[in-house]
This record gives sequence, C-alpha cells and structure tokens, in this order.
Amino acid sequence: MNHPRLLFKNVTLGNITLGNRVGVAPMARTSATSEGMATNQMVSYYTSFARGGFGLIITEAIYTDDKYSQGYFNNPGLINEEQTQAWKKVVESVHQEGAKIFAQIMHAGALSQGNRFVQETIGPSAIQPKGKQMELYEGKGLYRTPREATREEITEVINGFVNTARHAKTAGFDGVEIHGANGYLLDQFLTDYTNKRTDEYGGSTENRIRLLAEVSKAVREAVGKHFTIGIRISQGKVNDYNHKWAGKEKDAEIIFGQLGNAGLDFIHVTEYAAWQPAFQKDEATLATNSALDNGGLSLAALAKKYGKVFVIANGHLEDPGKAGEIVERGEADMITLGKGALANHDWVNKVKNDDPLAKFDEEKVLRPDARIKDFEV
Ligand SMILES: Cc1cc2nc3c(=O)[nH]c(=O)nc-3n(C[C@H](O)[C@H](O)[C@H](O)COP(=O)(O)O)c2cc1C
Repeated sequence: MNHPRLLFKNVTLGNITLGNRVGVAPMARTSATSEGMATNQMVSYYTSFARGGFGLIITEAIYTDDKYSQGYFNNPGLINEEQTQAWKKVVESVHQEGAKIFAQIMHAGALSQGNRFVQETIGPSAIQPKGKQMELYEGKGLYRTPREATREEITEVINGFVNTARHAKTAGFDGVEIHGANGYLLDQFLTDYTNKRTDEYGGSTENRIRLLAEVSKAVREAVGKHFTIGIRISQGKVNDYNHKWAGKEKDAEIIFGQLGNAGLDFIHVTEYAAWQPAFQKDEATLATNSALDNGGLSLAALAKKYGKVFVIANGHLEDPGKAGEIVERGEADMITLGKGALANHDWVNKVKNDDPLAKFDEEKVLRPDARIKDFEV
C-alpha cells in the first residue's frame, strides 16, 4: 500500500515536535470522579492511544472554574491542586509512550447539562439553546434558558481559562486547546443567534469574536512564549449541526484573522456534515470540504488562508488516503481522528503495518452513555 508519507513525518507545532501528524481529537467520556478527578482508568485509556502510535492526544473537554463552566457530571476539571496531580499521572504515562498531550479547556455556558457547583447556566444572552440535552452525557429534555453573563462574569470566564491553562502547564501538558467550537460558551459568543448583546461583545462579527481573542491573548500572557496553545473552531454545533456563518468568507476572514493575531500557535477546525448518520443525533461530524453554504473552501483551508498559523483538520478522516491527502494538499498541517481513533486506538500502527482498520461500533462504545468501557475501572 502507498503510505500517506507526510502524515507519518514529524512536525513542529509551537514549541514541540510531534512524531507524526495524526492526533486523537478531544472526546468527552464523562469517566472522571464526581469531584472531577482523572482516574486510573483514564490513564490506561489515554496511554493506549500513545502506545498505538498517535503523535498527539488532545484530552476531552475539561472545565475551567467552580462556577458555570462544567458541562456534564463526571467531567474532569483542572482548577485545583488535586485535579492537577490527577492529570499529571495521565500526562506522565502518555509521555512514557512517546506521545504529546494537550488539555482541551472548555466553558459549557448555556449547553451545560450537569454542573455540581451551580444549578443555573449563563450565556451571552438569555436565549434558550436549540435542540435537546445529550443523552450520551446523561442529559434529558430541553436545555435551560441561561442568564445573560454580566461583565464581571465575563472577566471570571477569562480568568477561568487562564488559571486552567496554568494548571495544565504545572501538570506537564505539552499545550492547551481552548474550546471555541461546537456550540459551547465561546462559540455562543461567536454565533449571531445566541449572542444578542448590545455591548462590545455582541453585534458585528468583530465584536462576537472579541471574547475568543481576549481569552487567547490572556492565556498566552499567562503561560508565556514557550508553551503551545491553540483554539478549536467550528460552524456547526452539537445542538445545531448545519449552522453556517452568515457572512460566509468575509466572516472567516474576520474570525480567523483575529485569532491568527491573538498569540495562538494553532487553529483546530471541525465541521459538521449536512447529513447525519444515526450517531450524529448526539455528536459532531465534519465535512472537510464545502465549509460555506456556497460550496467554497474547506474550513481548514480558510483557517490557513486567513489565520496564517498551524492548522489541524478534523472530521471523517479515518480513511488513510483521505487523511494523507488533506495534509499533502497543504490544506492542513496535521489531522485528528475522533471515532476512527475510538475504533482503532492503534490507527497509526495499523496503517503503517497495512493492517485492516476496525469500523466504529457506536453501540459498543457509546451506549448507553459515553463512559469509557474498554478499560478496567
Ligand atoms: C464521544 C465523543 C465525545 C466528544 N467530545 C468532544 C469534546 O469534549 N470536545 C470537542 O471539541 N469535541 C468533542 N467531540 C467531537 C470530536 O472531537 C470530533 O470533532 C468529531 O467526532 C468528528 O470527528 P471524527 O469524524 O473523526 O469522529 C466528541 C466526539 C465524540 C464521538
């Protein structure tokens, strides 16, 4: 077989060098303790991807404060010393197998459906989210209508990302990914119909991207120059798969342009497909082409064109030929796999050895919920 060679070549991302250009996409598995501590089961789970040859692992979304950020019960956090020590075990074990690991840090905002700290939710505006809570994470029924975040609370949100990034550095992570995608708080600020604010965080695209750029800059300032940081961006959302930016390529120019100037080392793009296989009732999928309604450039290509930083592409790239192509074409610098990695924790080793790849079995892996099942507790 013709191996996708560039995919298996090492690459520099920010301050680190990855052994290859294939990463594990962030995937919430709601397997932490109720106090948000990473467990031994999570150590085994994450280490298995490193052993299977992935150059980079991005963790599941981790909450950033003890207020409104937690999205699901049994989500891990990274906001105190105990949680930092728990993650350290994951990081050290992954490093022993030769892979790098980033922490994905997230504020769930209006999409929070399980938070042990507070009952209510906050968002840019008091608008009830579309769709239903995700059963995958033990949610039921409609989302709650959030309270409009005050200016003070916006500052607290930024501080939460900053503190969590600092803890990630202390835990030994190789970098952090700020979750700006999929309909969670930062994406709620970016999205026209969830953000009806009349201050400088609402209105124009320039205003709606402001908080994402401010969080990025604040995190950069806190962690210093020598720590790798990036952001994840999508148009679609877990509760609105087919959303597209109204301003099309002009919006992409503003969004990626602002983020490209915010001190980030990378932008990780994911795009939901217009069609939904059964599984997609619950989660993300991505079409790497036709990002815009009019069938324009892929989101990865747009991020490269306007962001001018390292771009990671994600979504339906488990076919090695497809994964190789997007990197060979220069649309992205590397790719990540979600479901393809869940089906093949050793995707990289298998492809290198010409071994057959397993198909993703949704029933087995994600039913009745997203908890990790293939490793002992
Ligand atoms: C079980 C599961 C949990 C996920 N949790 C997250 C998450 O915590 N953060 C995130 O940015 N995306 C999350 N996603 C989306 C994936 O990162 C990815 O974008 C999506 O699965 C599409 O990529 P794929 O076609 O390679 O699976 C999740 C996906 C799955 C399947």
